[in-house]
Amino acid sequence: MEPHKQKRDFCRMPRMLSLTLNGRARTDAVSDNVLLLDYLREIVGLTGTKTGCDGGECGACTVLVDDRPLLSCLTLAARVDGRRVDTVESLAVDGRLSAVQRGFHEKLGSQCGYCTPGFIMASAGLLRRNPRPSEDQIREALGSNICRCTGYVKIIEAVQHAAELCAQGLTP
Ligand code: FES
Ligand code: FES
Repeated sequence: MEPHKQKRDFCRMPRMLSLTLNGRARTDAVSDNVLLLDYLREIVGLTGTKTGCDGGECGACTVLVDDRPLLSCLTLAARVDGRRVDTVESLAVDGRLSAVQRGFHEKLGSQCGYCTPGFIMASAGLLRRNPRPSEDQIREALGSNICRCTGYVKIIEAVQHAAELCAQGLTP
């Protein structure tokens, strides 16, 4: 957990939360007030999803719910009951990077890397819905994500490269 955060109270009214997380069905006892971000990081132990602003402004916490990007810092875990949730850990298969991961790697779309999982998941969601996005559509899809390092040009190029890789048969 990031040092600036107080540990949240996980102790109220547990309910059974059932979902498909990164392709696998699982059920956990989760209190009603637990955020999806905390469920993923603190309960499941998937720390690829990052805490940035913790207030819906930076996109670092973006995950896909039924292929749609969602800010996990603003979403109660209970809301994804019965849904399909994908985090950045779902993308590489047997050590092979997905198209979006390769795009960011090969086009230098990442510097410090803190924002990268959120950008990658927002980009993967875009390419799942629209495999051939225009530059404007890429910019619009990434409009909720903030990067303080790259200046965004490399990020746009990374997503365009990922779209080319998808056209060659890679999964987003
Ligand atoms: S941590 Fe969720 S939007 Fe910044
Ligand atoms: S690469 Fe550092 S914040 Fe985006």
